[in-house]
Amino acid sequence: MSTTRANQLILAPSILSADFTRLGEELTECESAGADWIHVDVMDGHFVPNITMGPFIVEACRRVTKLPLDVHLMIEKPERHIEAFAKAGASNITVHVEACPHIHRTLQQIKSLGCKAGVALNPGTPSAAIDSILDEVDLVLVMSVNPGYSGQKFISSTVEKAGDIRNKLDALNSSAWLEVDGGIDTETLPKMLVAGATAFVAATAVFKHPNGATAGIKALQSTMRA
Ligand code: DX5
Ligand code: ZN
Repeated sequence: MSTTRANQLILAPSILSADFTRLGEELTECESAGADWIHVDVMDGHFVPNITMGPFIVEACRRVTKLPLDVHLMIEKPERHIEAFAKAGASNITVHVEACPHIHRTLQQIKSLGCKAGVALNPGTPSAAIDSILDEVDLVLVMSVNPGYSGQKFISSTVEKAGDIRNKLDALNSSAWLEVDGGIDTETLPKMLVAGATAFVAATAVFKHPNGATAGIKALQSTMRA
């Protein structure tokens, strides 16, 4: 299980829109359909209004799939919980810059536990907020909706921000993934691809596809090759 390359495009279904009564089957279907990572959205009811899942679910996912688990922490004081997510089997752990006054230290903490370290930005946060730690990260996550719920409308202004961060990563000769998350479907994915994104998260477009998750994954994959 390698997560060290950034030149391969990544499709990461978010289980936020999966049917939790049959989570194991949903993950198996994603893996069979060619998903690259499984994205796990962790929300605490403080940093974002919604409450979702914790290390217990990550541990359950770890038992049912070999795919890397891409854990997105939308929580306050994430440093208190990073070790638990790492022990549960997270491959990538992404924290929000808005939630981390000591972001440099938090990224080192993630890496010291053997995980890839990611930093996320809300739509209202400028790219300059991560300039000073850009050479420390394995992944940058540009939120293209306000975090909290799946099924929201894509915010177009985030395309320019993704392109801006692409340029900054290239200037550093960084191999970090540039991940986009929120409202990603067959219409919006190509815009982020052109902007230089390399990892695409999708909940609704996969798990709420009228013909099922496999059809959703195949449709998104076809736009990633275009
Ligand atoms: C939003 C989460 C996203 C969400 C995406 O707060 O971080 O990962 O699941 O859902 P869609 O793809 O439906 O916008
Ligand atoms: Zn997410």
